[in-house]
Amino acid sequence: MAEPFTYRRTALAASYCDALEGRGILDATSGLFLAAPRRTGKSTFLREDMVPEMRARGWQTLYVDLWSDRSRDPAELIIAVVRDTLAQLDGPVLKAAKSVGLDKLNVLGALSLDLSKIGQPGGATLSDALERLHTKSGKPLVLLVDEAQHALSTEAGTRAMFALKAARDRLNQGRAIRGLHLVMTGSNRDKLTHLVLRRSEPFYGAGVTRFPLLDRGFVEAYAEWLKPQFADGKSFSADTLERAFTLVGRRPEMLKRVVGEAVADWGGAQALDALIERNAQEIQHRAWQEFAS
Ligand SMILES: Nc1ncnc2c1ncn2[C@@H]1O[C@H](COP(=O)(O)OP(=O)(O)OP(=O)(O)O)[C@@H](O)[C@H]1O
Ligand SMILES: [Mg+2]
Repeated sequence: MAEPFTYRRTALAASYCDALEGRGILDATSGLFLAAPRRTGKSTFLREDMVPEMRARGWQTLYVDLWSDRSRDPAELIIAVVRDTLAQLDGPVLKAAKSVGLDKLNVLGALSLDLSKIGQPGGATLSDALERLHTKSGKPLVLLVDEAQHALSTEAGTRAMFALKAARDRLNQGRAIRGLHLVMTGSNRDKLTHLVLRRSEPFYGAGVTRFPLLDRGFVEAYAEWLKPQFADGKSFSADTLERAFTLVGRRPEMLKRVVGEAVADWGGAQALDALIERNAQEIQHRAWQEFAS
């Protein structure tokens, strides 16, 4: 069995990290807002490219997908990732304290916040919690919010976004090394724009960046990955795959399906050319229908 296919965009991730630090042509010191259509690889890029690059730079990464659980308020999801990361960092401290016989409650009082109350009346604010996390980890923090536009669908979510803005300013102003970087993605550019456009919006002044679709490099890497899967030495040409990829709006899943169909129904590689030739419109139509909803 082959390894699952993942095409990496390390240089792109590095350039975004430079932008977050204010060292790139693109300036994302007030936040990096990336927009791209559905199913084009935003989450995969964050997970496979951005997070590893950030860890390599010594940043503490926090990732949350606001679509991961539609039954929960986006604010809750954001708070949960902050809380869980704080708890992880507390773990070793608490263990050490217990081993020398210190009272757990005291230690909690001195070192930690009441984690269950973050963002609630009487508890620490989200912004406080992030500052504490920064102090505790001793690293620059980066919060990656996938499908960030969804935060604006509730009042608490909108408040959380303002809290993140406040934390960003608190942890960045007047410091040589920024304490908090923000990365937000959205599959709806217009909605993502609602975070940055007006004075009344949380990240007023920042801009939305078009996240590039997967390029020819993806197609070539995929063609290479496919090769050893055919015992008979057949292969798909990168040109053919490129045409198919364009037809399906540069969506990897759809490309895989088209390739799979070509193999199953037509018996292999050259047949894909024929399939595309004859069925270009149909392929496109189907791709559109599946993703229109
Ligand atoms: N770099 C890549 N290499 C290989 N496959 C990829 C790559 N990027 C995305 N894919 C595949 O494409 C599909 C969609 O990817 P992903 O979930 O990252 O997209 P998305 O833009 O976040 O989608 P959504 O709009 O649903 O959140 C997945 O099946 C994923 O495995
Ligand atoms: Mg996604």
